[in-house]
Amino acid sequence: MKVLVIGSGGREHAIVRKTLVSSLVAEVHCAPGNAGIAHQAICHSISDSDIPGLLGLAKRLDPGLVVIGPEAPLCAGLGDTLRDAGYKVFGPGREAAMLEGSKGFAKEVMIAAGVPTAGYARFIEYQRAMAHLSAITYPVVVKANGLAAGKGVIIAEAMAEAEDAMRTCFIDRSFGDAGLDVLVEECLVGHECSVLALCDGETILPLEPAQDYKRIYEGDHGPNTGGMGCYSPVPRVPSQLVDEIIDMVHRPTVAELARRGIEFKGVLYAGLMLTAAGPRVLEFNTRFGDPETQAILPRLENDLVELMLACADGTLSAHKLHWKDECCVTVIMASAGYPLSSSKGDVIGGLELDGGLPGVEVFHAGTAEEDGRLITNGGRVLGISALDRSFKGARAKAYDAVGKVSFDGRQFRRDIAEEPARTEG
Ligand code: AMP
Ligand code: GLY
Repeated sequence: MKVLVIGSGGREHAIVRKTLVSSLVAEVHCAPGNAGIAHQAICHSISDSDIPGLLGLAKRLDPGLVVIGPEAPLCAGLGDTLRDAGYKVFGPGREAAMLEGSKGFAKEVMIAAGVPTAGYARFIEYQRAMAHLSAITYPVVVKANGLAAGKGVIIAEAMAEAEDAMRTCFIDRSFGDAGLDVLVEECLVGHECSVLALCDGETILPLEPAQDYKRIYEGDHGPNTGGMGCYSPVPRVPSQLVDEIIDMVHRPTVAELARRGIEFKGVLYAGLMLTAAGPRVLEFNTRFGDPETQAILPRLENDLVELMLACADGTLSAHKLHWKDECCVTVIMASAGYPLSSSKGDVIGGLELDGGLPGVEVFHAGTAEEDGRLITNGGRVLGISALDRSFKGARAKAYDAVGKVSFDGRQFRRDIAEEPARTEG
């Protein structure tokens, strides 16, 4: 069969790679893809926000499965459009994607389902929000309700910072409409982790956990990014804790959606804080994480297409996941200026012509090809993933490869997976 993957990041490159090795698949297509994906799949230059264009592409290709990578088309209802047209889709419809698209909706669902999360208040009026800020204790977290590309979350240590955050949302309108509806949340303390699970509307199958690095600088300093690196598994989150989290978070959330007549088919990703009082949900994503996917999928032994089809068909209960007994470490290389801006057009040296490097997996994100040369084309440029029996070994392989790749102003963190490597003895 043909598989069509929607998106253009490292996550989609990892999905395409895993799709290519499926025994069920004859052709892999991607829209719009990137320079790395273009060497392995047939790319179509249709934006992931062009719903009529993507429907037209599906009609031309007649794929056996469509996989939607990013959140924006999921929240815009691409899943519903394609399912209504008769295609099998991996990814939830618009209403279920609102778990990610509206942090207020996610809170309502969590409260109705009894899922532990930070206490909050929600405001659509600037004056009321400002009045609330003088009546609470600090720190707090100020969040734009809607999608803001990972940037709409501000941790305010004191009232003045929270007031600035409100001005950013309501007066400067820095997050557009997403910031005209704001949540003020209790600030939780602990270690963060991501627990992703496949879901067919009923059965929930947890993926192995992954540890994301959100801040741009080493030691978790500087502004938040989409993610600067990742590793999997997470020694701090053994399988027993994953099962507890699935029972406490994923099952009741999917059941509450079902109670409202909303079916969830795809990946439900819970971003969690492991607090002294137990796990608490920070956010939901309704898709594979980026860069979590680049650290999780290289360890998965199953045929990913079989699993994604089972999610679309509602037959996930017949499957069991198998994992390589290896660690995966993923280091993201970003362009100059990221995350505040990004640099485009810098020539990338050190990669083979097909965009790869021996001994590691190179996942392309913001890359393009120009006159036969690979150039930067966005904030996060490449993700380099390495597998090894130990975190030390996987780090050594990943950083060795990172050292071979050059482009002007490249940024990467040197401390990805340092902690599990240090504690493995
Ligand atoms: P979110 O997009 O909601 O995951 O938020 C982005 C990042 O902000 C998270 O990964 C956390 O590092 C931080 N964050 C979000 N909510 C909270 C919270 N309630 N307490 C502490 N940190 C938070
Ligand atoms: N790595 C965080 C995300 O995918 O949103």
